[in-house]
Amino acid sequence: MSESLHLWFEYILRFSHLVAGIAWIGSSFYFIWLDSAFVPPETAKRNVDGELFMVHGGFYYQVEKRKIFPGELPKVLHWFKWEATLTWITGFALLIAVYYINGATLLIDQQVMKLTQLQAVGLSLGLATAGWFIYDFIWHKIPNKIFNVIASLVLLVLIIFINPRTFSGRGAFIQTGFMMGSMMLLNVWVRILPGQKKMVEDAQAGKVPDYSFSAKAKIRSVHNTYFIFPVLFIMLSNHYSVAYRPAQNALHLLLLSVSGAMVRHAMVTNKPIERWTLAPAAIGIAALVFVTAESFSKSGSPAANEVSFEQVQPVFQARCISCHAVKPTDDVIRETPKGVALENESQIRQHLPKILEMAVVAKSMPLGNKTNMTDEERQLIGAWVQKQLTVSQ
Ligand code: HEC
Repeated sequence: MSESLHLWFEYILRFSHLVAGIAWIGSSFYFIWLDSAFVPPETAKRNVDGELFMVHGGFYYQVEKRKIFPGELPKVLHWFKWEATLTWITGFALLIAVYYINGATLLIDQQVMKLTQLQAVGLSLGLATAGWFIYDFIWHKIPNKIFNVIASLVLLVLIIFINPRTFSGRGAFIQTGFMMGSMMLLNVWVRILPGQKKMVEDAQAGKVPDYSFSAKAKIRSVHNTYFIFPVLFIMLSNHYSVAYRPAQNALHLLLLSVSGAMVRHAMVTNKPIERWTLAPAAIGIAALVFVTAESFSKSGSPAANEVSFEQVQPVFQARCISCHAVKPTDDVIRETPKGVALENESQIRQHLPKILEMAVVAKSMPLGNKTNMTDEERQLIGAWVQKQLTVSQ
């Protein structure tokens, strides 16, 4: 009962996280698009930098990008901050529900670093906090843009170096996403909103607002757009262990972050020539696919071509079905994980590629290697699954 309640709680949280995220990223994409689509007004208007017309749902909309001066502030001003905040809150709750509780089994890989649950959670929170302070210090305190960009890239590489050496394959991905997502939210609350609020207050008080706040807010807002694609990819990655295999996940994170940022650049620019960044982004993603395809084929040992189902069945029985059964007997897992039962041949055959990926290549199953699966058993399963997959092609 309590396990199914937990799953429902997680399900509803995930749904809320997704909906809030759509609202946040959706409005962010919309403003990115607006910024690239504005044209100067046909007849110059005071304080108006650009305007555009849209048609949607049978009506026309006119939007102006403008500055506000004393006496011009409208009665109702719409702010965009709750989408970001709700996305982070639901995401953080999900992080707790999926990764921090239950012994933090999904966050820890004892082969990467021997950690207790408390240490893993402490490290996750500590690294996220440190990441923000360093990033914020770089951009807030040091007035040299080239230095800022280089220091930020070094910070990114550091994060991508540290996380895979601290957490499980999947944990390292989610931790990186958590750190980037937190930077995005704090950018909104600590660096974007206060400046905007100050300008509005100045305009209300009849003073000419200090537009240097706009420029500062814009920098952080631009950073947030660079984070979007890597963060989204990372959030989805936990359904695809092909992305977070421990041996390669640092490289994957790097390729994903750089490629995501390049796609974003192509999307934002209003100069078609600058869309060339899509090419290296495509090469980055292709490299990712290539690197993983390579180790996939290496994983089976050809000598084991003769393996029969009778040989692998006891391995599934001993190592998997305490969790992957219609009625699991594991002390923590009470519902069939992801509906994947591995109790008989036909059930096993439904999941061959995932079994190969998770139990043989990524070694992310059995969860936390709770059932002590040996490397020989992984090879045996690998050889059998690969044979079935080639036969069925
Ligand atoms: C201690 C419990 C446990 C054991 C033992 C275990 N698993 Fe899992 N398995 C899980 C959990 C929990 C998930 C769901 C993880 C998630 O939330 O993404 C899972 C997910 C999977 C999935 C992915 C399903 C999907 O669609 O994403 C596969 C495939 C899988 N396990 C295969 C295996 C194999 C093969 C073994 C034995 C070699 C095994 N597992 C042993 C707990 C276990």
